[in-house]
Amino acid sequence: YGTQQINELGHLTIGGVDTIELAKQYGTPLFVYDTALIRKRSRGFIDTFEQLGVKAQVAYASKAFACVAAYQLAAQENLSLDVVSGGELYTAIKAGFPADRIHFHGNNKSIAELELAFETGIGCIVVDNFYEISLIKEIAQQKNQKMKILLRVTPGVEAHTHDFITTGQADSKFGFDLNNGQADEAFKQVVNDEHIELLGLHCHIGSQIFETEGFSLAAGKVMQKMGAWKEQHGFVAQVLNLGGGFGIRYTEEDKPLEPHEYVADMIRTVQDESKKLNLAMPEIWIEPGRSLVGDAGTSLYTIGSQKTVPNVRDYIAVDGGMSDNIRPALYDAKYEAIIANKANDPKTSTYTVAGKLCESGDKLIIDASLQNAHTGDILAMFCTGAYGYSMASNYNRVPRPAVVFVENGEHQLAIKRESYEDLVVNDLPLTLTKGE
Ligand code: LLP
Repeated sequence: YGTQQINELGHLTIGGVDTIELAKQYGTPLFVYDTALIRKRSRGFIDTFEQLGVKAQVAYASKAFACVAAYQLAAQENLSLDVVSGGELYTAIKAGFPADRIHFHGNNKSIAELELAFETGIGCIVVDNFYEISLIKEIAQQKNQKMKILLRVTPGVEAHTHDFITTGQADSKFGFDLNNGQADEAFKQVVNDEHIELLGLHCHIGSQIFETEGFSLAAGKVMQKMGAWKEQHGFVAQVLNLGGGFGIRYTEEDKPLEPHEYVADMIRTVQDESKKLNLAMPEIWIEPGRSLVGDAGTSLYTIGSQKTVPNVRDYIAVDGGMSDNIRPALYDAKYEAIIANKANDPKTSTYTVAGKLCESGDKLIIDASLQNAHTGDILAMFCTGAYGYSMASNYNRVPRPAVVFVENGEHQLAIKRESYEDLVVNDLPLTLTKGE
């Protein structure tokens, strides 16, 4: 992946930095991000739109991995930003991310979150439901401010990895149904409001998708709605946001497409539909999360205890687990790993990599093919950059790991390791008295 190599000591290096040295200096578990690879992935999408001559915004879906340094990296690479909570928005603003390139998502944004969006002057709110429309109108009126919005619609196309389903009505907690009149009703409520500027429509069909058909189908359906609104109401949409969900390679079974393959196909559909419907070509926005940061992240763990269940399997246990990567336990997600301090050795052994949390399901990889492992070895688990740290917890009061960025032989701490002191910082002593 990316800048990974093996040095003369047989150690895995990332960004020209020895991972064993990183483990020594920062401790484990440790997330290591190859920032050059994040830049490359970002440019892959941005350049594609440029080459095709299509006006676009590539918004990093920061739920995949968010921190001040990550937002600053995204800003450096001219990405826009998708945030889904007041917390992400606050962090982005703290990081100095240009507010006018921030898009705010969510199916239950609070009044305080919406007020923050107005106060920080973000680029657009992706409006999800009727209650939110009424809140935005109220806040905009109070503040006498105008807000740009997209309406999030569910087109009845849902993609899962290799297959997708299309339905007349989507059973989703997100967005206005495109097919049952809800989207039309939402349109009527916002289109003539003096405090709202409707830019266009948004849809997101799923995550870890490996083919282009679902995107094209959804794009076609949304374009048709745009065509209808132009015909019936003279409304011309400026923006079509087709969401994220571009798949990445976790294991050799995954065969992702290149950014230009995903993008070229959806653009062709939008161009064809624009012509057919006599619409101006809208600006295309996308929201990749996983495909920008997923394979740039590697988790380093120290191997501790080992256990053999005779005739069944060998376990090696590491110093992290579901508290820093819940994806195997939650989604049955698959990963690959190596022993980073003997990266040149052949993978002759099979181990199940167990975490240290008090839960039997806390296994990171079942039957991983690995080099012969010993206590004290460093395990490098690949492709943990998306939805690893961002879904981390303090289960079992395990402090969350540190995160380092590496590039060109340099490294820097991006998130400090939590301390035991951090774990109790919000805890208060018991003051209720014991009854009789
Ligand atoms: N846009 C919207 C509206 C989304 O809901 C999502 C992801 C994205 C963009 C970014 O999708 P991506 O490009 O990262 O696939 N925790 C799960 C993934 C949940 C995705 C939620 N929405 C996981 O670990 O696989």
